[in-house]
Amino acid sequence: MSELPKVPKLPKLYSDLSSWFHLLSDPADYAEEAEFARGLLVDASSTVPVTLLELGSGGGNNASHLKAHFKIMLVDLSQGMLDLSQTINADCEHLQGDMKTIRLGRIFDSVLIHDAIMYMTSEQDLRQAIETAFVHCRPGGAALFMPDLIRETFVSLTTHGGHDSTAGDGRAIRYIEWTFDSDPADTTYTVDFAYLLREKNGPVRVVHDTHVFGIFPRESWLRLFQEAGFEPRAMADPWGREVFVCKKQE
Ligand SMILES: C[S@@+](CC[C@H](N)C(=O)[O-])C[C@H]1O[C@@H](n2cnc3c(N)ncnc32)[C@H](O)[C@@H]1O
Repeated sequence: MSELPKVPKLPKLYSDLSSWFHLLSDPADYAEEAEFARGLLVDASSTVPVTLLELGSGGGNNASHLKAHFKIMLVDLSQGMLDLSQTINADCEHLQGDMKTIRLGRIFDSVLIHDAIMYMTSEQDLRQAIETAFVHCRPGGAALFMPDLIRETFVSLTTHGGHDSTAGDGRAIRYIEWTFDSDPADTTYTVDFAYLLREKNGPVRVVHDTHVFGIFPRESWLRLFQEAGFEPRAMADPWGREVFVCKKQE
């Protein structure tokens, strides 16, 4: 009997609720960030990059903008998220896999790990994800890591958002997102979401979902990149975050 791939437990947003993701995070809102990411990858590469691997590609929101410039392969742990991404990126390759362990036997001009890198909750996880990026990156190419935050930029905050579907299905979501670090000495913090979900314009149900994120000081990021073989550069992005552009020498 063939074995099904083992999928570690995912937050509800990427399992039971994956079909709601685009109402929580609208692909249209990613245009500027995707363009920023593209500029960094192009500048850091020895020749104009053509192929791109995105690890933890989620709903394919970045990819929906980047695919005008790259031939893209999208990898995510969640089949539900890959199915959702297919609805807007049918022209991209999709594959289920874990960014810590996947080995595609192919190399790409550029590698991107956007906010999905936050799910690396220990230094060992982060090291493995960085190694995956390194082995899939062409010499002379570059990898870009875009964590939501690092230890030095952590702020405990509460935000809210949500969208109404334009598909005529009467779906709508509103949520609050509460960021909290109960132990600043360890490598994790939590983001608790309360989703209010409306279907067919009917009554609202509430779902609580806890996401456990990794948090590491700049020094750890830079050391792990260097140990993997990258030449990293930390830089501020226009949204107050610190991102890492990593060159792989020819
Ligand atoms: C916030 S979503 C990414 C959204 C993405 N930036 C976009 O443009 O749509 C985070 C994703 O990380 C994925 N993920 C979490 N751990 C992962 C892992 N170990 N390997 C691959 N994907 C992972 C989740 O399944 C989820 O789809």
